[in-house]
Amino acid sequence: MALSSATNEFARGSQMSTLSTMHRQDLGRHVGTVISGVQLMAMSDTEIDELRQLVAERGVVAVRDQQMTLEEQIEFGRRMGPLHVHPAYPDAEHPEALRIHADANSRFVAGEGWHSDVSCDEEPPAVSMLRIEVTPSSGGDTAFASMYQAWESLSAPMREFLSGLDAIHAGDLPWRGAYGNKSSEEFPTNVHPIARTHPLTGRTALYVNSGFTDRIKGVSKAESTALLRMLFEHIAYGVDFQCRVQWEPNTLTLWDNRCVQHHSSWDYFPETRSGWRVTTRGERPYFDGRN
Ligand code: SIN
Repeated sequence: MALSSATNEFARGSQMSTLSTMHRQDLGRHVGTVISGVQLMAMSDTEIDELRQLVAERGVVAVRDQQMTLEEQIEFGRRMGPLHVHPAYPDAEHPEALRIHADANSRFVAGEGWHSDVSCDEEPPAVSMLRIEVTPSSGGDTAFASMYQAWESLSAPMREFLSGLDAIHAGDLPWRGAYGNKSSEEFPTNVHPIARTHPLTGRTALYVNSGFTDRIKGVSKAESTALLRMLFEHIAYGVDFQCRVQWEPNTLTLWDNRCVQHHSSWDYFPETRSGWRVTTRGERPYFDGRN
């Protein structure tokens, strides 16, 4: 099927070969692509490499019609990279998988705020792969925001100021009290640069999020609070660099936590939305100073 001109331009820019023959539609100018007509389980190693690169460039790639078992999803995940085990609530039977489920009995849902998955880890996740099997009759979208563009749309003096700074990311912040039997010491806390360099694209991405980022180091508490509020609002109101994925049964969406944040939407209560997330391990974030 023919590609749209915007997608063609992207395909040329990133020198994609195999993936460029599939039907692709960009969701937003800066973030998000939907592809169909591909079976992830049947991809060659070259196609997997291309997909990894596409996810790093577009931030989020939703792939339609991926009927697979959880075991197959884990197998596909392993081909994308070594898998991450969630520090707060891994699935007992499949530790590399995370159940994403809400129904009429749910008191909260995962990811109801802008965040990058498990950024409190020393080596936070790279690519999350969520496959939703059961969708509500409407709603249940996931919103995504490009952290490349969030960074680039800050003023040059602000980027310069933030470039040398680090922030503390604490698992205790979102998870305290949510998983009854765990004490706050059991959740990871780590320090990461506020701006990080993506290892596959070389681009700089803003790396603070309202889910896990507790405090900016090297400035006063009041300054940290004010700066974080400014950055969180910049991300939340950044409609020019956001997109939404609308789920269909068996859509598998891959997002790169190193360059996007996401926010689930729980507008479908009391209906059911259900699926599984499998996530690859990332590297320790670094900032190489190129802006
Ligand atoms: C998550 O934060 O991984 C959940 C996203 C979603 O359910 O849309």
